[in-house]
Order: sequence, then structure tokens, then C-alpha cells
Amino acid sequence: MLSKSQARAFFLGGTVIFSGVFIALTVDTVRQTDARTKSQNLTDAVKRGKLIWEKNNCMGCHTILGEGAYYAPELTKVFEKRGEAFIRTFIKDPQAMYPGERKMVKYNFSDAEITDVIAFLKWVGEIDTNGWPPKPDIVAPSAATQVNTPVATNTPETKAVPQPEKFAQLCIACHSLSGKGGVVGPQLDKVGAKYDATYFDKWLKDPQSVKPGTAMPKLPLSDAERADIVRYLAAQK
Ligand code: HEC
Ligand code: HEC
Repeated sequence: MLSKSQARAFFLGGTVIFSGVFIALTVDTVRQTDARTKSQNLTDAVKRGKLIWEKNNCMGCHTILGEGAYYAPELTKVFEKRGEAFIRTFIKDPQAMYPGERKMVKYNFSDAEITDVIAFLKWVGEIDTNGWPPKPDIVAPSAATQVNTPVATNTPETKAVPQPEKFAQLCIACHSLSGKGGVVGPQLDKVGAKYDATYFDKWLKDPQSVKPGTAMPKLPLSDAERADIVRYLAAQK
């Protein structure tokens, strides 16, 4: 049993020591802020992007660094996960990307505004957050477990057709190939054995006309980009 004066000393001592620890840790954190947020990368574009982020209340649906609302995906690492081209295409017309699903607002931002938002998201993604959130999980679980399946890129025909840049930028977010990519759409290994070039061309031009109600988006591809991707898909045998 502590006497009254011992209890008081214990209380005061504990308060002083732990207040000291708390202040020391706070000072230490504040001293690291510049380095950990890479404040030298805070360009005007990043600042404009943050203002757009705030003005449009993106946090009313999204979280960033864990702050915000839980209706829509966490965006801290979205730049690393999706890349510039995907985010730009998505923000221009969000509903086209995920047809028939819950909706993100179409903001009608100018290209310059989208560039600023992307600069902001890129900067946020580079903040040293002690590894939070965990690495983006973009490997299809089904592909990861199928270790014995021969990988499409190893066959001579598929090597002959290099992967189009747009494919890596837009398609891999939802589809996996050779075990890498997203899980929203089906794996595209060997898809060239399933369909021919005419089908791929029609499919990419307007998925809804081939399969009404499909979740595959109609993506803004130029004729040349589409032709490259069609050739590439047809070679995945
Ligand atoms: C009304 C809610 C809402 C608001 C406000 C909103 N979003 Fe979204 N956002 C969504 C939803 C829902 C998704 C998931 C995709 C879908 O289903 O359309 C999404 C997806 C995204 C993605 C793609 C994420 C990924 O992993 O592919 C980005 C980038 C994004 N939003 C940026 C923004 C920005 C920037 C703002 C503010 C200018 C904003 N969002 C405001 C609902 C919202
Ligand atoms: C936002 C997610 C998303 C993106 C981005 C996307 N797809 Fe898809 N894709 C899907 C979904 C979902 C399906 C399944 C559609 C269905 O069966 O109704 C699909 C189906 C397909 C199929 C048919 C596969 C099969 O085995 O039947 C092909 C081929 C395809 N996509 C190619 C592409 C290409 C090429 C791109 C890039 C230009 C792309 N996709 C971008 C979601 C996506």
C-alpha cells in the first residue's frame, strides 16, 4: 500500500516523466516531417492539386493516409498502383471505367487540373508512412497459385509482338497476364486461343455492343493504339 504522500509523488513523477517522453517524441516527429514528406517536392502543381482535392471534397468518399470517408478506395498509393495514364482516363469519365457499378462523380476537370490532381496524388504516395498502407496487392491470387501453367510470354509467337504501352497503362489495372496485374477482369493468358482479331477489335471498340451489361469499360483508345493491342491479344496463344 502506498501512503498518501507516496501516491502523490508517484503520480507527479509519472506525469513529469511521461510528459517529457511525449514532448521529446513530438519534437522528434516534427523534426522529421520535412524529410519524410519530401517537402522539397512540393511543387506548385502539387499545391494546386491539393486545393482541387479539398474544394471538391474528395475526402467525402475517399481516404488518404487513412483520413477521410470509407465509401471509395484508399488513394494514398493510387499513383504507384494505377499510374498516370489510368488515373487520367478514369477521372475524365469515371463511370465509363466501371460501367454499372457505384458511381464516382464526373468533375469535368480540365487536363491541367487533372495533371495537378495527379501531381498531388503522386506526392502523397511518396510520403514515408512507415510502410503504411501495405504494398498494393495487384497480383491475381489465381495466377500466383497456378505456378505450373506455362507462361504466355515464353512462347515464340508472343515474344514477336511486344506489349503495347497502353496495354500496360490501362489494361493491367484490371487484367493479369503472366501472373501480373489486377483481378477485376479475367486473366488474359492464352486469350488469343479463345478469340480472333476481329472479335478483339469489336470488343475494345465497344464492349457493350458485344456483351450488353458487361463490366469491361469502353476505353478511349486511338485506332492505332487499338490495332496494336488487338495484335498483341491475338498473339497470346
Ligand atoms: C461520391 C463519392 C466520390 C467522390 C466525392 C470522389 N470519388 Fe473518387 N471514387 C469513388 C468511387 C466509388 C470509386 C471507385 C470506382 C468506381 O466504382 O467508380 C472512386 C475511384 C477513384 C480513383 C481510382 C481508384 C483506383 O484504385 O482505381 C481515383 C484516382 C479517384 N477516385 C480520385 C478522386 C478525386 C481526385 C476526387 C475529388 C476530386 C474524388 N475521387 C472524389 C467515389 C468518389
Ligand atoms: C476497369 C476494369 C477493366 C479494364 C481497365 C479493362 N478491362 Fe477488360 N474486362 C474487364 C471485365 C470485368 C471483363 C469481363 C467482362 C465480361 O465477361 O462481361 C473484361 C473482359 C475482357 C476480355 C475478354 C476476356 C475473356 O476471357 O473473355 C478481353 C480480351 C479484355 N477484357 C481486354 C482488355 C484490354 C485489352 C484492356 C485495356 C485496353 C482492358 N480489357 C481493360 C475489366 C476491365
